Amino acid sequence: MTKTRILTGITTTGTPHLGNYAGAIRPAIVASRRSDVDSFYFLADYHALIKCDDPARIQRSRLEIAATWLACGLDVDKATFYRQSDIPEIPELCWLLTCVAGKGLLNRAHAYKASVDKNVEQGEDPDAGVTMGLFSYPVLMAADILMFNAQKIPVGRDQVQHVEMARDIGQRFNHLFGKGKELFAMPEAVIEEEVATLPGLDGRKMSKSYDNTIPLFSSSKQLKEAIARIVTDSRLPGEPKDTDGSHLFTLYQAFSTQEQQRAFREELHGGLAWGEAKNRLFELLDAELGEARERYAALIARPADLEDILLAGAAKARRIATPFLGELREAVGLRSFREQVQVAGETKKKAVKSARLVSFRDDDGSFRFRLLDAAGEQLFLSRAFSDGKAAGQASKRLQSVEELDIRQQDSGFAVYLDGEVVAESPAFADAAAIQVAIASVCEALKPQE
Ligand code: TRP
Repeated sequence: MTKTRILTGITTTGTPHLGNYAGAIRPAIVASRRSDVDSFYFLADYHALIKCDDPARIQRSRLEIAATWLACGLDVDKATFYRQSDIPEIPELCWLLTCVAGKGLLNRAHAYKASVDKNVEQGEDPDAGVTMGLFSYPVLMAADILMFNAQKIPVGRDQVQHVEMARDIGQRFNHLFGKGKELFAMPEAVIEEEVATLPGLDGRKMSKSYDNTIPLFSSSKQLKEAIARIVTDSRLPGEPKDTDGSHLFTLYQAFSTQEQQRAFREELHGGLAWGEAKNRLFELLDAELGEARERYAALIARPADLEDILLAGAAKARRIATPFLGELREAVGLRSFREQVQVAGETKKKAVKSARLVSFRDDDGSFRFRLLDAAGEQLFLSRAFSDGKAAGQASKRLQSVEELDIRQQDSGFAVYLDGEVVAESPAFADAAAIQVAIASVCEALKPQE
């Protein structure tokens, strides 16, 4: 069975909250269990460095995120789970891609543009505070994706543009170095429509930047306190509550069965007090997360075990990355000199062969031929012949005369047969270039032994 390769990265700057869990972690783990899926999930800790210069926070977040995915049930025998910074092939590929990524393409990246717009608005230099890390963020992300030829990339809407850039960059690389073969598969962003973005305590999207999150693995007590801070309307106990506009109900919905939702809705319509409603939500979440919370605590308490798990994941990922990068280095011309000697020999033979005389019919119907060098540059162009046979004879004779009659003129040269010009070169930059071109003509037209 051909499996679909799914890949996604998690930037390690924060502590996972309930929104991350429902929106990303839970669906990713569900997908990783499918038999027709080969999943790659990784800690994007190089990306984290772009946003955060606090080493303690980076380290803490990597640990917490790794523990979270494992506690939530990711099976690392089935999925490939690793830290980006344990795969040296990724920054190396990033450089190969940087060399083909258009600066103009990256100028259009939303994250970079937003920084520039903000600077301009505040009368600052447009690039104030913008690092090369931020600017090339999408290239590193393209390397993450293309390294493993991932096909489906589950991401939030804000990341769709980056996945499209990975396609653009990969396509360009394929075109330049693939020799008709697809070195990279084309990735596609997937936004899971039914995993609604969870509302936070204040009803806006749950996000660290709004400080409205419910932590995923806090103690029961902290979970209760967070839920107590959910904003509701001011309807009193006994008054019917509107479930449609209630983000408390939306949160409940994300973790309950249809049956539970129906019962809860009825109670709210029937006048259940908001305080009671919060208790129901607490019980629901506490039950859903309780076991995982214990696993999480156990994992966090044994960081050396986590290290081993991640290093094993990195080794698994590198079994793909190392040979593939070798192929890519080969494709761009970073090759061992041992092989290069042979390749150079071959190229030379080919170069002699592939300098070629090409005959063609001009727009006015006359017959001409031209001599092209191996790179396709024109070395000379013949005069116009009114009949094709005469043109053919002239070109044949040029390849059989003992000594070519070539005379320098103006900024090029002319080729003579029987004292008459039969072909002229284009203009060259200087006398040295003319000499090189003349030498190429002699070499190309030398009668074959
Ligand atoms: N930039 C992504 C984010 O902030 C994280 C990420 C890094 C990623 N590399 C990736 C996601 C590759 C998908 C694929 O959400």
